[in-house]
Parts: sequence; C-alpha cells; structure tokens
Amino acid sequence: MQNQKVVLTRPLSGVPGAGDFCVVTAPLPEPGPGEFLVRHIYLSLDPYQRSAIAGRHMTGRQPLGAGDMPVAETVGQVLRSRHPGYPEGAYVRHFGGWQTFALSTGERTGLVDPALAPLSAWLGVLGMPGLTAWASVVELAGVRAGQTVLVSAALGPVGSMVGQLAMQRGAVAVGIAGSDDKCALVTRELRFRHCVNYKRPGFLEALQAVLPDGADVYHDNVGGQMLADAFGVLKVNGTVILCGLMERYNDPAKSKGLDLALPIVKRAVMKGLVVTDFEHCRPAFETAVATGIRDGTIRYLEDRVEGIAATGAHFARLMRGENRGKALVVLGPS
Ligand SMILES: NC(=O)c1ccc[n+]([C@@H]2O[C@H](COP(=O)([O-])OP(=O)(O)OC[C@H]3O[C@@H](n4cnc5c(N)ncnc54)[C@H](OP(=O)(O)O)[C@@H]3O)[C@@H](O)[C@H]2O)c1
Repeated sequence: MQNQKVVLTRPLSGVPGAGDFCVVTAPLPEPGPGEFLVRHIYLSLDPYQRSAIAGRHMTGRQPLGAGDMPVAETVGQVLRSRHPGYPEGAYVRHFGGWQTFALSTGERTGLVDPALAPLSAWLGVLGMPGLTAWASVVELAGVRAGQTVLVSAALGPVGSMVGQLAMQRGAVAVGIAGSDDKCALVTRELRFRHCVNYKRPGFLEALQAVLPDGADVYHDNVGGQMLADAFGVLKVNGTVILCGLMERYNDPAKSKGLDLALPIVKRAVMKGLVVTDFEHCRPAFETAVATGIRDGTIRYLEDRVEGIAATGAHFARLMRGENRGKALVVLGPS
C-alpha cells in the first residue's frame, strides 16, 4: 500500500486550474511513539486553502511552491496506532492534508462518532464551516426571534447553516446565491424564505423587493461589491458579520475597499469572525447540530468527487464558485 498526495506543479496565480496540481506517491509512513496513522475517507476543500497556498492566511505566511502539498481537514479511520487516545479502528477528523493517509500526534484532532451523524458531515455543517455559522448567529450576532438575517454564498456549508440556525431561533432567512438553480435549492431544500441571484440584472432592486423592511443582520461570505450592496438593505443599527472574502481570494489586487460612508450612514455594528476563537462552543454546537441532522431540521448539500486525482480540479471548481454545497473528495470506503 502506498500514500498518494496532491502537490502543486507550480506556484498558484489567479484562479486555480486542474493543471496546477498533480498526484505523487510515497511510502506509507509508520507511526512512532505517540503517533497514529489515519486512512482518509473524506477530504474537505475550503476557500481558506487558496489563501493558505498563497501565504496570505492566518495559518501561514509562506506561499507554497512546486512539490508542496496544501493543507486540508480530513475524516478517516485509524489504521495503526501508538497513541493511547486514538485506538485502531477509531474515526477521527484532523488536518491530514491533500493525501490518502497521514500521521497524527493528536494535535488539532478530534474523535468523531459515526452513530451521531454521517462521517462527511463532520467536515461540513457539523465541522469547521458549521461552527463558523454558529459563531456568527449565536455568539456574535445573537440572532433573535422576529429578526431577518441576510447571508451571501447561501448554498455553501457556512451560508446554509447561518440561515438554518437563524430560522431555528425564530428569525427569517434570506439568501444570496450565484444562479437560479442555487437559489431554488436554497429555498426548496434549505427552506430559506427567499433567495436572490446576484448575477441577474436588477439584483439590488430584487433584494429590496424581498426585504421591504430591511435586514437586521448581514453575514458576509464574499466582501467587495456584495458587501457594499448589502448595506443598501441593512436596517439602521443593523449588524454585519465579516466572515469571508470570496471575491478576492484568487486575486486580492482586483479587490476594491469598502466605502466607509456605508456603515456610518447605517450606524452599523461590524464584527470580524475567526472560527478558531470559538473552539469552546464545539460541544454545544455538535450536540445541537447532530440532533438537527438526525431529526431532519438541519439539511445540507454536498458537492462530491471520487478519488484523490480529482482533488485539484474540484478545488478549481470551488474557487470559481461552481460548487453546489460542501466541496468534498471521497477517498475511500467508510
Ligand atoms: N472567518 C472564518 O473563520 C471562516 C471560517 C470558514 C469559512 N469562512 C469563509 O466563509 C465563506 C464561505 O465558505 P464555505 O466553505 O461555505 O464556501 P462555499 O459557500 O461552499 O463556496 C464559496 C461560494 O462563494 C461564492 N462566491 C461569491 N463570489 C465569488 C467569487 N468571486 N468567486 C468564487 N466564488 C464566489 C460562490 O457561491 P455563489 O455562486 O452563490 O456566489 C461559491 O460557491 C468563505 O469566504 C470562507 O473563506 C470564514
């Protein structure tokens, strides 16, 4: 048995393409004392990986070059163990990278219980993206019954959970997404009140039409013009949660700064969100969301491909905004 890794063929520039990545093989590593070897089952593709590759992310300021493997969180099964806390056969999530096997010391690793929720969910609505939404709705915005919450990239794992957690609290959820198909899924499958396609002409008017009284909270996954447009429907004294910058990850030089007159006129409260600040919320979040998945009150979509060789092209799809739900690579059987 060999390990297969996806590495860069060259430093990334702009929107990634499949040719920026290739698969290499390496011998399976043997766990040393205090280590265990994980066979990966699901690999999570996330927008932050684009910034991490460019050396523009909080996790690392060093750009990756040819032969380097990007970071990723993975879910897998312990194959061989010399760690008392992670026995062979246990399911774990950890930062295993774009590869089929990885060693772990237990750092930034958690046991996952497949009886509580499907394994893949631990990378999506029950994982880091879901915790991000929890941090936004519950901790930072403190969404209450009767409020209206607007969220961009509404079909993705963060956006879909922002809307659903807001609805669980008695708020109305309104989404923004990049196609009529995506919007239909946001309202039909995720049960948001409305979803507006920002790529259609007349986007601002359409947003105003579905939000005649405005939004109390805007959760921003995109930045740039989308953030500026959202101020057009934010209520006076509204809250903006700054979470993501999808419009600039591929090429920050093309991005335009926010006109600060917009938050001044709306007397807005703007809060930046970094999900790693909310690890202490994980137990309450996991209990609530796993229950919601089992009883059908929390729904999610996954955008899956099979096999490590498909990783690069699937990441490129995510960074072009073409994914429909949580971007995942399936690497092996559960
Ligand atoms: N602050 C934190 O701690 C934290 C933690 C996790 C995630 N995030 C951020 O949360 C956001 C959502 O993450 P996610 O995992 O749920 O991603 P996602 O929604 O599955 O994928 C990103 C989506 O962004 C939209 N998008 C808008 N403008 C885009 C553009 N110019 N280029 C490409 N895509 C564009 C696309 O959907 P449409 O077609 O609908 O526009 C795309 O599908 C990201 O910005 C991510 O970095 C932040």
